[in-house]
Amino acid sequence: MRFGPGSTIGVLGGGQLGRMFAMAARRLGYRVHTLAPEHDTPTGQIADVEINAPYDDLDAVRRFAQAVDVVTFEFENVPAETAAAVEAHTVVRPNHRALHIAQHRIREKTFVAGLGVPVTPFAPVRSQAELAAAVRAIGVPGVLKTASFGYDGKGQVAIASAGEAESAWDALGRTEAILEAFVDLDREISVIGARGADGSTTAFDPIENSHRRHILDVSVAPADIAPPLVRAAGDAVRAVMEALDYIGLLCIEFFVTRDGRLLVNELAPRPHNSGHLTFDACRTSQFEQQLRAICGLPLGATDLLQPAAMANLLGDLWTDGEPCWSAALEFPEVKLHLYGKTAPRPGRKMGHLTAAARSTEGARSLVLRAREALVPRRVRL
Ligand SMILES: Nc1ncnc2c1ncn2[C@@H]1O[C@H](COP(=O)(O)OP(=O)(O)O)[C@@H](O)[C@H]1O
Ligand SMILES: [Mg+2]
Repeated sequence: MRFGPGSTIGVLGGGQLGRMFAMAARRLGYRVHTLAPEHDTPTGQIADVEINAPYDDLDAVRRFAQAVDVVTFEFENVPAETAAAVEAHTVVRPNHRALHIAQHRIREKTFVAGLGVPVTPFAPVRSQAELAAAVRAIGVPGVLKTASFGYDGKGQVAIASAGEAESAWDALGRTEAILEAFVDLDREISVIGARGADGSTTAFDPIENSHRRHILDVSVAPADIAPPLVRAAGDAVRAVMEALDYIGLLCIEFFVTRDGRLLVNELAPRPHNSGHLTFDACRTSQFEQQLRAICGLPLGATDLLQPAAMANLLGDLWTDGEPCWSAALEFPEVKLHLYGKTAPRPGRKMGHLTAAARSTEGARSLVLRAREALVPRRVRL
């Protein structure tokens, strides 16, 4: 089914991913409704209609679904009943099976491994006996993660020795979890694919990501990896999208091991933080591609126009007051994106900077210098 400009798109979730999606949708003449529990959301500030309701308020969810032509997600951790209530009234892209798999680390890794795509070694932890068996099978060091609802490193505990497993599981509230082998990383990359309603696919070239305190810090494109890995990563995204009969945008986060193997870390059935640089640096942004995919339009070209970098702006930058925006804007090649959030909590994603240059290193150094300029160093007397 095709939804042309003028149609109304529903976005579940109210964060910055929905905000930038809504900007892309508005540019092409679409209308946008958003539903999220919070008020005055980053998405709501751009949308035509913002509905404030918890995701389990199924009456509100039904009214939201009835008023739009197609629904997509910017936040995938909505209850299964919510997705079902939406699906009863309108088209939902991507489909609920994709969402169900991506919401749960055990289902996700089991599914991807079943396609013959290598994943981080893992074992499920749902009982005391499984915890012991997982430690024996996976070994240490490892990372214990909650099966659901983790993001930005939340719901994860590192395990250095077998004796720490018990207290790590306690720290996660003895909830359903997954034990992963701690991967000796060379680097981390992500690939953002899209699949249209006609089955056509595209993938952006791999983006290279560095994290700080388990939160994405800086991304650069193109990733500095060998061509066979670039192909393997693109093939993996396509294989997952085909197997799920996926319509929409899908990001896969990969680990590249020191011995040159590619392992799937996790899936995101929506735009991804690493893809924010596509807004300024690619022919088609990840947000426009999401729009094209879910509306049944032809997909856009994903080529990178110039090496680029993105640096996240977390709430920590506000510790000594409002950052000095003009200092970053002094760099003419740097673009500032802010999400309209009013409460700058530590670790909260408030905005990002992007830059393009002749090399990825040049772009990286530009965004880092611009970010440093945001917080004037105190003069030492
Ligand atoms: N098994 C692992 N081995 C090594 N590093 C890991 C592992 N799992 C997570 N990490 C690090 O923590 C980051 C966040 O973990 P991830 O599983 O992607 O959760 P989130 O949902 O919080 O993004 C990863 O990008 C990586 O840097
Ligand atoms: Mg991640």
